[in-house]
Amino acid sequence: MAAPLISPSILSADFARLGEEVQAIDGAGADWIHVDVMDGHFVPNLTIGPAVVKALRPHSTKPFDVHLMIAPVDPYLEAFAAAGADIITVHPEAGPHIHRTVQAIHALGKKAGIALNPATPAKMLDYLIEEIDLVLIMSVNPGFGGQSFIASQLRKIEAVRKMIDKTGRAIHLEVDGGIDAATGRLCTNAGADVLVAGTASFKGGSACYAANIAALKGAD
Ligand code: DX5
Ligand code: ZN
Repeated sequence: MAAPLISPSILSADFARLGEEVQAIDGAGADWIHVDVMDGHFVPNLTIGPAVVKALRPHSTKPFDVHLMIAPVDPYLEAFAAAGADIITVHPEAGPHIHRTVQAIHALGKKAGIALNPATPAKMLDYLIEEIDLVLIMSVNPGFGGQSFIASQLRKIEAVRKMIDKTGRAIHLEVDGGIDAATGRLCTNAGADVLVAGTASFKGGSACYAANIAALKGAD
């Protein structure tokens, strides 16, 4: 099996030195940069907006994997696209017409992802899977880094892998929350090809980032 792509969540980086942190994690082997956007309403935490994404853009050439945990989401898609997002992932609960939201992301020239909360069934994808570029399985309830992996999501990863393979399209299957080398391996065995990791990517400071990412890729 190919090594998974690693998308470090900058939620666990030093926010006072965010540009340097993005450069360091990029240089340490990150494949994508995961940006967690929270509004204090859809999820009980507040993080960053498009101005910060724009400021970070010159610090990395890697794809910006922007995870929007905001509602409503539609009014902000254009701003995140203009700020430099490459992949824009949204939750179906964040707007009344998720299919239209996916169309809007594509109209902006960006890749579209759908995020499934731990209690949201894989079935939610039935009439979306043909349209999207990525499925994000949340293995914690969204809102905070450093939470414990919810093992029931492995069954969902397996189910979504089957759905993706049936389409014959190259749709990424990404997992987010409580990922370390051990839980990451469970996810890749279940069919994931992209792992988001905040705590496990940024632990120990910049001298450890390359080893952290190598461990997540299973190359330790
Ligand atoms: C949670 C976020 C995650 C989080 C992951 O709402 O979507 O991306 O930062 O953090 P860890 O890897 O520490 O669980
Ligand atoms: Zn995330």
